[in-house]
Order: sequence, then C-alpha cells, then structure tokens
Amino acid sequence: MKKIFSGIQPTNVIHIGNYLGALKNWVALQDEGEAIYCIVDLHAITVPQDPKILKEKILETAALFIACGVDPSKATLFVQSSRPEHSELSWILNCFTGMGELKRMTQFKDKSGGDQDNVTAGLFDYPVLMAADILLYQTTHVPVGEDQKQHIEITRDIAQRINSKYGETFTVPEPIIKQSTARIMALDDPSKKMSKSSPNASSFIALTDTPDQIREKIKKATTDSGSEIKSSPTGEKPAITNLLRIFSGMTGREIPDIEREFEGKGYGEFKNALAEAIIEELEPIHKKFEELMADKEALHQILTQGSQKIAPLAQETLNKVKEKVGLGI
Ligand code: TYM
Repeated sequence: MKKIFSGIQPTNVIHIGNYLGALKNWVALQDEGEAIYCIVDLHAITVPQDPKILKEKILETAALFIACGVDPSKATLFVQSSRPEHSELSWILNCFTGMGELKRMTQFKDKSGGDQDNVTAGLFDYPVLMAADILLYQTTHVPVGEDQKQHIEITRDIAQRINSKYGETFTVPEPIIKQSTARIMALDDPSKKMSKSSPNASSFIALTDTPDQIREKIKKATTDSGSEIKSSPTGEKPAITNLLRIFSGMTGREIPDIEREFEGKGYGEFKNALAEAIIEELEPIHKKFEELMADKEALHQILTQGSQKIAPLAQETLNKVKEKVGLGI
C-alpha cells in the first residue's frame, strides 16, 4: 500500500503554482493509499516570521488544504511542530549528513542569495528536517513540484546510508512529480518560478484572489513575441507555454486541444478564457475557505486529531532509529 507524505509552508499566500504542482495531486492521491499532509511551520521559521501572522497562516493553510479537496476523513492533516519527533529525528539525521551535500542544494544557494554568512543555520539545514518529515512515517511516495526534487534525492541518500550502516531502518521514498505542472512560472517573468515570496503580487495568483484580481493579473501577464497560441516545450515561447500549462492544469484539458480552440485567435481572447477558467476552479475553493475559517475551533480539532493519530508511527520509527544508533539507556 502507498504511504504518501507531503508538506507546505504556512508562509505568505498559497498560489496556483502550489495548487497545480502539489495540492491538486494531494487530493487525487488521498484515494490511492494512506496520505499524511503536513503544515511545515518549523520550516517556515528558517526565515524571519511575525509570530501572530505565522499562527494565523497555519490555520489558513489548513483551511485551504480542506477547501482544495483534502478530506480529513481520508487523509491525516497536522502541524509539524505539534510532533516533536520531527525535530528529534532531524538532529539524528544531521549527524549522518555531510556539509558538502547541503552546500550543493540549489534552493539553499537561491534563498541565501550568495550571502551565506547572513542566513540562519536553519535555512542551511532545511533539507534534513524535510528528510525527517518524510522518513518518520516510512513514506513510499512524496508528491511535490520540481523545485523539491533535489530535497527528495538527499532524503533518499540519507535513508540509504543509514539502512546500509544499520540494516533496514527507513523506507526509501520516491517523488511524484506531475511534469506538465511541476514548475509553474511567474506571470511577470516566465524565466522565474512562481513564488510566494515574490514582492510583486501580480507575479502570482493566490488561491484567495478575487475574480477581479485574477482577471487583472492575467491581463497583465507577460506574453511572447508573435500572436500564436501555441506552446513550445523547447523553450522559445516560455510565457504562452506557461499560460497554456495553467489552463490545462485548471481544466484538465490537454494542451493541443486548447491550442486548437484558439487557432487563429489572439491573446486577448485566450487570456479572457484563461481568467474565467481559473475563476471557475478557484471560486468554490475560495467560498469553502471562508466557511472553514469561520469555525477555527473545528480546524484546531482536525489538526489535533491528525497529530494524535500519527503519533504511534512517528514514535515507532524514532525509537527504532535511536535503538540502532545506540542512543539512550
Ligand atoms: P513550499 O511550501 O515552498 O511549496 C509547497 C509545494 O508547492 C510546490 N511548488 C510549486 N509547484 C509548481 N510550480 C511552482 N511555481 C511551485 N512553487 C511551489 C512545491 O514543490 C511543494 O511541493 N520544503 C517544502 C515543504 C516540505 C515538504 C516536506 C514537502 C517540508 N517537508 C516533506 C514534501 C515532503 C516547501 O518549502 O514547499
């Protein structure tokens, strides 16, 4: 049976890149095995956070998971810091991870912006905490976007290293990356990944944007030279390719089918249809989100129950590792 684990940071806003690259797949996968979905607040504090806002965002993120279709009666939802085993296993895994391996992580290089002396040790160590998240539950599959692929690879390396030194300890997980939506690009610059931390709010569409905001952002989205609505997997038309991928991800239609519909038509018509397709998909999510946020007590309860439900598995793995490594009395 598949054991699925994935996580998302409760920072800034959740955008359609997170939705198409990860969340939408989480919903599909909850029927294919045991699914555990985590709000990774410990990862969030690797960069400065306002405590009040962070707390609020944790609940908002839980509400968005459910609004997007994650069903708490099928999948387990919980907050990372509510299970101390994550930090504890992370420490142990640190002692089996090389500095050189972590220095090679492209996300660390990007996020530190070349100024490694002025970022936290937590940011450097981020992939090891992620490995602990995954390995703690003997996960078989991790649905993520392309940007997390390298972190799954290091998780596999750490698991294999410990397995070969101490005998079978961890399941070695596989990533699940849906190629067509694995890397949704920024609307204002298709050479950059759509990112929560972008200072330009027009570069992304948040799941909670209003229909008018969505229309405005799509209208403003960068386009390529020429007027054809045609994707180029080889990269000459990055902007229209990205918009077509978003259209396809939102509607479930194949890209060639969308291209056929807009043959001989201009960007204006295509962009209008795209904005409406996004609105159609996001409006019910937005509505459900507002309903869920009106009952914070219920959200608290879902997260607390989730954490309690997975406690035995987390403790079992942690005890097994401690025993193998020779910790305790
Ligand atoms: P985070 O919070 O940055 O992103 C959450 C998920 O969204 C995907 N994603 C994208 N997919 C397509 N296009 C984009 N532009 C885009 N931007 C983000 C990410 O790949 C991710 O799947 N380190 C993780 C959270 C994490 C985790 C884990 C994930 C912590 N522990 C264990 C899996 C398993 C992160 O920061 O994701």
